[in-house]
Amino acid sequence: TILLPDEVKDLKLRDIISLWITQILQTYGDKPSSDNAPIVEGEIDDLVGGPIFLALYPYFRKYGGVFKLAFGPKVFMVLSDPVVVKEVLKEKPFSFDKGVLAEILEPIMGQGLIPAPYKVWKERRRALVPGFHKAWLDHMVGLFGHCNKELLKNLEVQAKSGAVVDMEERFCSVSLDIIGLAVFNYDFGSVTKESPIISAVYNCLQEAAHRSTFYVPYWDLPLADVLVPRQRKFKQNMTVINDTLNGLIKQAQQMSYTEDLEELQKRDYSKVKDPSLLRFLVDVRGADVTDSQLRDDLMTMLIAGHETTAAVLTWALFCLTQKPELVKKVVQEIDDVMGTDDLNRPPTYEEIEKMELSRFCVAEALRLYPEPPILIRRCLEDVPLPRGAGDRDITLIKGMDVFISVWNLHRSPECWENPDEYDPERFKKPFKNPGVKDWAGYNPDLLTGLYPNEIASDYAFIPFGAGARKCIGDQFATLEATISLVMTLRKFTFNLQKDPNEIGMEMGATIHTAGGLPCTLKLREV
Ligand code: HEM
Repeated sequence: TILLPDEVKDLKLRDIISLWITQILQTYGDKPSSDNAPIVEGEIDDLVGGPIFLALYPYFRKYGGVFKLAFGPKVFMVLSDPVVVKEVLKEKPFSFDKGVLAEILEPIMGQGLIPAPYKVWKERRRALVPGFHKAWLDHMVGLFGHCNKELLKNLEVQAKSGAVVDMEERFCSVSLDIIGLAVFNYDFGSVTKESPIISAVYNCLQEAAHRSTFYVPYWDLPLADVLVPRQRKFKQNMTVINDTLNGLIKQAQQMSYTEDLEELQKRDYSKVKDPSLLRFLVDVRGADVTDSQLRDDLMTMLIAGHETTAAVLTWALFCLTQKPELVKKVVQEIDDVMGTDDLNRPPTYEEIEKMELSRFCVAEALRLYPEPPILIRRCLEDVPLPRGAGDRDITLIKGMDVFISVWNLHRSPECWENPDEYDPERFKKPFKNPGVKDWAGYNPDLLTGLYPNEIASDYAFIPFGAGARKCIGDQFATLEATISLVMTLRKFTFNLQKDPNEIGMEMGATIHTAGGLPCTLKLREV
């Protein structure tokens, strides 16, 4: 349990400007660094030559788990050390806000949970978390199976025709269908068809990605949404999405049943016509929520829960296509648990519980390709770090922009053996590097759920973040991804149609492939 403060600190514009000037003087002048962090001057090629998370890795290897990176007038602190990351995410979550990320996402997600200021976040987190209760998650397992059956049907046609299929695109479609039904009982049907709302959603996701990598927020300038074609299109697409979401909210409110939270959590979902999260939020008795807040919640979950899951599946399959021996083992596990009678049958929750290797395949993909690869924060008050580079005592100064590089943390040779190797079985045994001071290592005995997490790894593995701002959809997403992976591997064998070294990475809100994941498929013979 996390104790929530009544209020948290606030940053004024003058705090940010004053810190900015100080940092420039300290970086380029002869003033000593007030936070005591090593300063690295970044190469401009790092900003334009490829994804920023890749560029940060060599600096991490050279300067350690805490360093300050300056690109021209921009200065930010990069953290890649499990002990430091634990301090920031778990021990001091309310000494930070989402900084630049909130500025970028606010026009799309409004006051949704990811960018929301503390006061709104506290209320909405309290309202949303109970929606992800056990009975609902159990019901979701059925929904995952149902949507993936549609995907199997579609892939079967492609397998028989020998076509090359972009599996990244297919995983995006199935996860969009799932999140639409789960969150607001809306059937995008994107596995089988195109529609204006689907392309509007994709366009807005692309715009979120564009904004997250663009350095000047030109979209905030007056008339940008009229004069800049890209922004004009974005505005039109937001109108399409907002109209749809507002329509769904109205519809849900017209059939409101208002029940107590406890009763709602005991609902027999097999008898419920609309099992969506929206329905739950509208039905909770005493829920004091405005239509615009509901819209923001729905939009946030649509974006947070769609591309992320698709990316995990894409990278898991990418890694598996290069490990035929591992695939054999995984498929054997699936056959042992599920039998081979009906290859279209979705697994039950109890079956997933028995498929450890399949689950660890998902976790290992999340380790190698964390979504998002960087968590963004801004410091609301001075935070002394438990340790810095070498013997330095470092303090994060109020106003400082902070990047937590999950990519570096997950691929740190200090914590992981063969860090770049896809090896799901690593999660079966404990490991520890006694050279990393104060880090307890990984211990599978500490697992509380079905998947490796930050607790068992002492914050070296944080695919869903950690602490108060941890993902609320972690169980939903891991189960969803495991069911998709199990169902596709059970029915087909996949052949990657490109040299793996040519499947590049592009950074949006998540890590995408540079040009899709082209595969041919064969129906498995059993
Ligand atoms: C937050 C990852 C799926 C909803 C986060 C964070 C991460 C993350 C790393 C923390 C961000 C930070 O600290 O800055 C993922 C991954 C997913 C996934 C890798 C899939 C594999 C989902 C799903 C939903 C969801 C399915 C909802 C249905 C959210 C929300 C937050 C969040 C609302 C904000 C929580 C808060 O600030 O209180 N996610 N997520 N995510 N995620 Fe997820």
